[in-house]
Amino acid sequence: MGEEHHLRPATIAARAGRPEAPGAGVNLPISMSSTFREGGEALYGRDDNPTWEAFESVLGSLEGGRCLAFGSGMAAISAVLETVPIGGTVVVAAGSYNGTRRWCADAAARGRIGVRLVDTTDARAAIAACDGAQLVWLESPTNPCLDLADLAAIAAGARAFGATVAVDNTLATPLLQRPLTLGADVVVHSVTKWLSGHSDLLMGAVVTADDALLEVLRSRRSLFGGIPGSVEAWLALRGLRTLPARLFRAQATAGELACRLAAHPAVSRVRYPGLPDDPGHALASAQMDGPGAMVSFEVAAGPAAADAACAAFEVLTPGTSLGGIETLIERRGRYAFEEQTPPSMLRMSVGQEDVEDLWADLDRALGATA
Ligand SMILES: Cc1ncc(COP(=O)(O)O)c(C=O)c1O
Repeated sequence: MGEEHHLRPATIAARAGRPEAPGAGVNLPISMSSTFREGGEALYGRDDNPTWEAFESVLGSLEGGRCLAFGSGMAAISAVLETVPIGGTVVVAAGSYNGTRRWCADAAARGRIGVRLVDTTDARAAIAACDGAQLVWLESPTNPCLDLADLAAIAAGARAFGATVAVDNTLATPLLQRPLTLGADVVVHSVTKWLSGHSDLLMGAVVTADDALLEVLRSRRSLFGGIPGSVEAWLALRGLRTLPARLFRAQATAGELACRLAAHPAVSRVRYPGLPDDPGHALASAQMDGPGAMVSFEVAAGPAAADAACAAFEVLTPGTSLGGIETLIERRGRYAFEEQTPPSMLRMSVGQEDVEDLWADLDRALGATA
């Protein structure tokens, strides 16, 4: 753990991981070496890179543990899921990110692990499913349905069964939720999203306060070679420095848009943990420092009308992914492996545009579907 833990998140994001020697640049150079001159601690570029380490020190401080950067969110997810022994069992939130569920289905089909999909909005059922499992995989809020899981309750119950608790914290980010403080063993991120924040790179990360687990994951990273490039790590660190400014502005816009969408005649349902009548609202108030900047909503006229709205947007950007400067919107139900997603649901990742421009575009494109 770094010495930054006593500082508040915005301060950590701004100052952690910077060179301190007199005369040094305030930003580290991008370290472009695949190997290192003998005699120091660093040996080879699949194990060590000073640019990753700067990024890792900032994200580790924000989450309250020690961080390892990976080449993508899926590389980080794979490293954690790979810790389950052959023949072991993983309990997975049924609403988890599509890639996580596909990884588990693939491993189960090959007889590698057993998988129990559970509805983690029901903490009691989730805990009961942990009997005999080695790992429980939580995601809260989930992508794309924005369901919440009671992280403290499930972590405590899972640990009583001896299971390791992993939380995908991509949608909340450590500014809004710190799963390690709620009892999780390891946090996973798609750095591609809010943390880097500009839709210009793919990267992932794990964070844990468990030194033994950290070394297991470090070894997975080295053996599988799932490392990030130095340029990506440098850009991700630059993005991470402005996360508070970006996320809180996007969250304010998301809250306003969620309220307006809830009253729009072309919208049958809005999911946003900040809305008082959302099923996750009470839990969000208890375990999060804000409801975030993702809003999912269902178009009343159905999936074809939702697709037509996406094609008609002029300010919002139709496309997959999330957490960028631009507001991204897509109908997740168009993909295989999204059977649990309502077919007419649009997932919107709110960006930095002016709220009134976004609303005018939403109102116009949705109005045409009514
Ligand atoms: C919640 C969540 N976790 C993990 C991932 C995978 O991350 P990546 O695309 O960086 O591999 C994604 C990607 O969309 C995601 O939304």
